[in-house]
Amino acid sequence: MSDLISECAYSIGASIDMMPFIPEMLSGLWDIGASSERIVELVGKNYKKNKASCIDLGCGKGSIAIKIAKNFKFNVLGIDGIGGFIEEAKQYAKKYNVSNLCKFEVNDIRKMICKNKKYDLVIMAAVGGVLGDIGITVKKLKRVTKSDGIIIIDDCVLSDDSLFKSDKYLFFSEAKKCIKSQSLKIIDYYMQSDLEMKEINDYNTKIIKKNVERLKEKYSDKIRLFEKYVKNQIKESEELVKTKGIIWVLNNKSKKIR
Ligand SMILES: C[S@@+](CC[C@H](N)C(=O)[O-])C[C@H]1O[C@@H](n2cnc3c(N)ncnc32)[C@H](O)[C@@H]1O
Repeated sequence: MSDLISECAYSIGASIDMMPFIPEMLSGLWDIGASSERIVELVGKNYKKNKASCIDLGCGKGSIAIKIAKNFKFNVLGIDGIGGFIEEAKQYAKKYNVSNLCKFEVNDIRKMICKNKKYDLVIMAAVGGVLGDIGITVKKLKRVTKSDGIIIIDDCVLSDDSLFKSDKYLFFSEAKKCIKSQSLKIIDYYMQSDLEMKEINDYNTKIIKKNVERLKEKYSDKIRLFEKYVKNQIKESEELVKTKGIIWVLNNKSKKIR
């Protein structure tokens, strides 16, 4: 098992030596992968009970966890491997008056899914393949999901007619097949439009480009490191726009699959 910091670095497209600067580099971005607003919408549409325990695995700065606590009054545990993000998440929880509903912890997702505790709502958004491919990921997430609970995964796929191919991404129909093979019911999904994907990427890149100028002035001996990071982010964004952002909403019920 690779160490936690390498895993986190990989998931955000940073090198290890860039990690101490990541909280400053991403300052001004609350959502750092998935659209928290879309996830909240999908929870409201698909989870009708008025009580739930929720875990957000790879919660980043807590945007999803906090909005879920705020909108639905659910208790949420947010887990992330980056201490700086967890500290920011706690500050946001205070700002939004939901500290009583939210708990944030530095921990490893791979360890959390081996614990015995189960949740009504399990979220893993924009974390990538830390648990394996989509089939293995849902299999592992089922372990921490109550029977009849909901799993929400934000991921990327290729549309079935995509001309772009990459070992990193499955086609939509392949991903669907992998999920169903784990006896999970796909109760809903949201596929981002190309425009939405582009707008989010452009916005994030704009903020990062602004932050990098400040960081270059502050740490003049790290200019090459920062430039390499930004170059890599732009390259990743260019690849991402060839894919489709997808949010899967899965029900942990061993019923006939649609
Ligand atoms: C792209 S960010 C997404 C954050 C958040 N879910 C969002 O959408 O705003 C991926 C997050 O997963 C975390 N992560 C990756 N692997 C992890 C692991 N094994 N344990 C805990 N956190 C992990 C990273 O630290 C990072 O904050």
